[in-house]
Amino acid sequence: MAREKEITSVLNERRLFKPKKEFSKAAHLSSLEAYKRLYRKAEKDPEAFWAGLAKELSWFKPWKKVLEWKPPFAKWFVGGKINIAYNCLDRHLEGWRKNKAAIIWEGEPGDSRVLTYQDLHREVSKFANVLKGQGVVKGDRVAIYMPMIPELAIAMLACARIGATHSIIFGGFSATALRDRINDAEARLVVTADGGYRKGEVVTLKEKVDEALKETPGVQRVVVVRRTNTPVEMQADRDFWWHDLMKTASDQCSAEALDSEHPLFILYTSGTTGKPKGIVHTTAGYLLGTTVTARWIFDLKETDTYWCTADIGWVTGHSYVIYGILSNGVTTVMYEGAPTYPQPDRIWEIIDKYKVNILYTAPTAIRALIKMGEEWPKRHDLSSLRLLGTVGEPINPEAWMWYHQVIGKGRSPIVDTWWQTETGAIMITPLPGAIPTKPGSATLPFPGIAADVVNREGESVPANVGGYLVIKRPWPSMLRTVWKDPERYKKQYWSDIPGVYFTGDGARRDKDGYFWVMGRVDDVINVAGHRLGTMEIESALVSHSTVAEAAVVGRPDELKGTAISAFVTLELGNAPSDPLKEALRAHVVKEIGAIARPDDIRFTENLPKTRSGKIMRRLLRDIAAGRETIGDTTTLEDYTVLAKLRQEEE
Ligand code: PRX
Repeated sequence: MAREKEITSVLNERRLFKPKKEFSKAAHLSSLEAYKRLYRKAEKDPEAFWAGLAKELSWFKPWKKVLEWKPPFAKWFVGGKINIAYNCLDRHLEGWRKNKAAIIWEGEPGDSRVLTYQDLHREVSKFANVLKGQGVVKGDRVAIYMPMIPELAIAMLACARIGATHSIIFGGFSATALRDRINDAEARLVVTADGGYRKGEVVTLKEKVDEALKETPGVQRVVVVRRTNTPVEMQADRDFWWHDLMKTASDQCSAEALDSEHPLFILYTSGTTGKPKGIVHTTAGYLLGTTVTARWIFDLKETDTYWCTADIGWVTGHSYVIYGILSNGVTTVMYEGAPTYPQPDRIWEIIDKYKVNILYTAPTAIRALIKMGEEWPKRHDLSSLRLLGTVGEPINPEAWMWYHQVIGKGRSPIVDTWWQTETGAIMITPLPGAIPTKPGSATLPFPGIAADVVNREGESVPANVGGYLVIKRPWPSMLRTVWKDPERYKKQYWSDIPGVYFTGDGARRDKDGYFWVMGRVDDVINVAGHRLGTMEIESALVSHSTVAEAAVVGRPDELKGTAISAFVTLELGNAPSDPLKEALRAHVVKEIGAIARPDDIRFTENLPKTRSGKIMRRLLRDIAAGRETIGDTTTLEDYTVLAKLRQEEE
């Protein structure tokens, strides 16, 4: 029911914002006609289109075949040899860019560092030698669990330089989540820090690593950056300080010539089962996808200072804090802490301080900033901004308009970019000098991307009819598989709808072909722009000794987009109580991390189930949202359950 309401409300959105002439004139793509021409060209011969763009990358050896497609397994630029760290660093050192700022970093306490391309190249080469010295070889997995400090960027690029596959685990994840990801990837080495700053507090990362490493037989070494001076235990022969190892490391380390399909990283993301999926991205196609999308969508110019507020622990940080930006030789801003610390204007202060030109952030952050009031952005000079971007969830038109007017002063185009961990790079998006925007729509597919909205049978649905968002053809930056689980890859993405990649999202296209993404149609929820599987939270709850059964659903939330509602039945002999609620919330934080903490927990004697025993989440969603249940309840096994659940609410 919620979906229909959503469709109707966005249908009312008729505002259209054409690119400003001055912006278009200087843009990489400067008219709707130019976009359409390019899109048609790519449709006619997608391989030639991508190959033409790939020529701009620096190759050690050219590819023999653009695409090898054995559905659903793709190989791009087969036979080529390339290195992404070389493309992000070495190739910029030949000219004047060598002394250009690659990373401008700001710590939460207010400290800052600037690394030029040459600085970054030197540090990456040194750390690559450190990794080698610790026995890491091409193909090994390295787990990275760090705060947003330059060493995180250095560590990932060093892995890429020598062909080690990195698995970055967001610093907000718990020791248990970290342990499971380390074990699944069979990482040999972990890079971490004593701690990081977040909202004025120290997040004790090394402590969590110690906890996780009690049950990770494969890890032989830990490298620890000193960031917060928090006392940590260093286990002899296992734990080493970053600064000690770097002191003696050589700064000479040539970039390994890697196969195009060499696995660059694994990034875990939530799915519809309790077990996170290790999404595998490889080298050349990912580099191409992130480089070209960043250039055209953010309209990157040599002189730009670009800031993406995402943590590198998420895909947005991988693709658009580091790889896609550095490969274009642009200056990227990296910020360690919370956007509202110590005051609600921290984000605006940073923009003013570094004269940021492009800001890329999430709707949830925008909504939080709106709530703080307009006086905060007004305190700062934001006139350097020329382009704004959003990602992670549908943006409500109100938030879009605020972003446009209060932050962009009606001048800066907004790029609402739709993509996923699996797609590696942006897929549906405005090209800011070319495509008129409509608040709440990610607009049109990037050239070369065959996106569509279809029914279960895979047939395109007519304009303004809701359906499933799919991609009909392989693209260079697509995931290649699920780590160690190709069957799950096939089943999850290529089975529900015949012959195409299913995104898990529902969407519709309007009469202009614009995409309006409505959100997930599976058991995945999007909380504050982060993807969580309801099953994961349910498994965490059920692992508590008092819990018999749990069902988790999302409910609309003004700030976070979606809040987490849990329905819990207790084992016999346990009584519902507020302290138990708190204990369960804390348990989920321990098992997964604070991002998964349920916003509300309701105890119930039974969950509404179908006669075949399937939990009727649709009904729970209505109850959680405080809505009347209008849907069909004829398959409900026990009608009294619903009535009881509603009573408990009152
Ligand atoms: O539901 C879509 C939503 O976020 C999901 C992907 O989440 P994740 O893999 O964590 O990656 C987030 C950052 C790329 C999608 O399936 N989503 C992402 N961007 C948008 C969006 N929904 C609507 N509009 C967007 N611009």
